[in-house]
Amino acid sequence: MGISVSPLDPADQATLDAVYRTAVAAQAVDEPDLPPLCRRRFEAPLRHPMPGVDTRWWVARLDGVPAGWLRLYLHTLDNTDNASVELVVDPAHRRRGVGRALHEHGLRLLRERGGKRLVGSTVSPLPGEEGRELPGAAFAAAVGAKPALADVRRRLDVTALDRPRLAGLLAGARTAAAGYRTVRWSNRTPEEYVADVAYLEGRLLVDAPLGDLEWEQEKVDAERIRGTERALDARGVRRYNVGAVHEASGRLVAWSMVSLAANTTWHAWQQITIVDPAHRGHRLGLLTKIENLDHALAHEPELRVIDTFNAAANNHMIAINEQLGYRPAAGSTDWQLTI
Ligand SMILES: CC(C)(COP(=O)(O)OP(=O)(O)OC[C@H]1O[C@@H](n2cnc3c(N)ncnc32)[C@H](O)[C@@H]1OP(=O)(O)O)[C@@H](O)C(=O)NCCC(=O)NCCS
Repeated sequence: MGISVSPLDPADQATLDAVYRTAVAAQAVDEPDLPPLCRRRFEAPLRHPMPGVDTRWWVARLDGVPAGWLRLYLHTLDNTDNASVELVVDPAHRRRGVGRALHEHGLRLLRERGGKRLVGSTVSPLPGEEGRELPGAAFAAAVGAKPALADVRRRLDVTALDRPRLAGLLAGARTAAAGYRTVRWSNRTPEEYVADVAYLEGRLLVDAPLGDLEWEQEKVDAERIRGTERALDARGVRRYNVGAVHEASGRLVAWSMVSLAANTTWHAWQQITIVDPAHRGHRLGLLTKIENLDHALAHEPELRVIDTFNAAANNHMIAINEQLGYRPAAGSTDWQLTI
C-alpha cells in the first residue's frame, strides 16, 4: 500500500486518537523533558483556531496505519506569504519517506496559494551536544531549508530558587522603577490595558532578534487579543500576567506572561516579556518577571519548572533570565524554506 496522505477528518475520532498518540510518542523521544502534549491544545485548531491563522492538517498512513501528520498554519492577517509548519512522524515509522511525503504535500498547497516561504523549528544541539542524533534538523537540511534563527530553551528549577538573591534583585528593580507601579491579572486582560497589551504584543517581533527569518510586524489590535484569549480559554490554558504602568501617563508599558497547559500543574512556559522602547532602562523587564513568578506560584503551588525560548542573540533577555536562575535545557533552530 505504501504511503498515502489525506486531510484529517475532524469527525474521524479513531484517526484523531491515533494521530495524538503519534504526537505523544514523538515528543517522548524528541523532547523528553517536556510534559506530555495536552490533548485539548493539540486538537484546538480544529474548533478554536487562533485569530489570523488558517490551519490545514493532513495525516500520512504507512500501509494504512497513521504514521505521521503535517499542520500548515497559513497566516491571514499579516505574513500572508509565510506558512508555519509542524511535521511529526511516529518514531516507530521514521526513515521510510513519510516525512518527505508530508512535506511535499504541504509544499504543493503552498505553491498553489502563491506562498513564498515555510518556517518551522526543530531541536538542535547545545554546545557539547554536537554528536547527538537530531532527526528534525537533519530532515530540514535534507529538504533544503536554511537555518534562519538559533534559539535556546532555558529552564528555571522553581524548587531551587535562590530566594534571597531574587529578593535583592526585586528590591533593586523597584528602586530603578520609580514612577511605575505593577498590576497583576490572570487570563483575561483588564479592559483598561487591552489596547496597550495589543501594542506591546505587536512590537514583539520588531524588538526580538529574528536572524534571517523574513517575518513582518504582526498586526495586533484589542480585538485580536480578545480572540486569542478566547482561543486560549478553549484550550484550558491558564495565564498569569504582571504589567508595569507608567504612573504619569497611566499607560501599561511593560508586560510579562507565564502560562500552563490544561494537563499540567508542574510545568509552565514563560511567554512574552516586553518593555516599550521609550521606557527601557528602568529594570521593568526584571521587575515584571520576578513579580509574575510570585503571582504564578501563588496560584500554582505544584509548579516545579518554567521553560522559555530566547533567540541565542537576545543578550538582554538572556541576562535577565540567567539572573533569575534559568539555564540552557535544549537548543532549537528556526528553519526557513523559500520556495
Ligand atoms: C523530522 C521527521 C519529521 C522526519 O520524518 P521521517 O519520516 O523519518 O523522514 P523521511 O524518512 O522522509 O526522511 C527524509 C530525509 O531526511 C533526512 N533525515 C531524516 N531523519 C534523519 C536522521 N535521523 N538522521 C539523518 N538524516 C535524517 C534524510 O536525508 C532522509 O532521507 P533518507 O532517509 O533517504 O536518507 C521526524 O524525525 C520527526 O517527526 N521528528 C520530530 C519533529 C520534527 O523535528 N519535525 C521537523 C520540523 S517541523
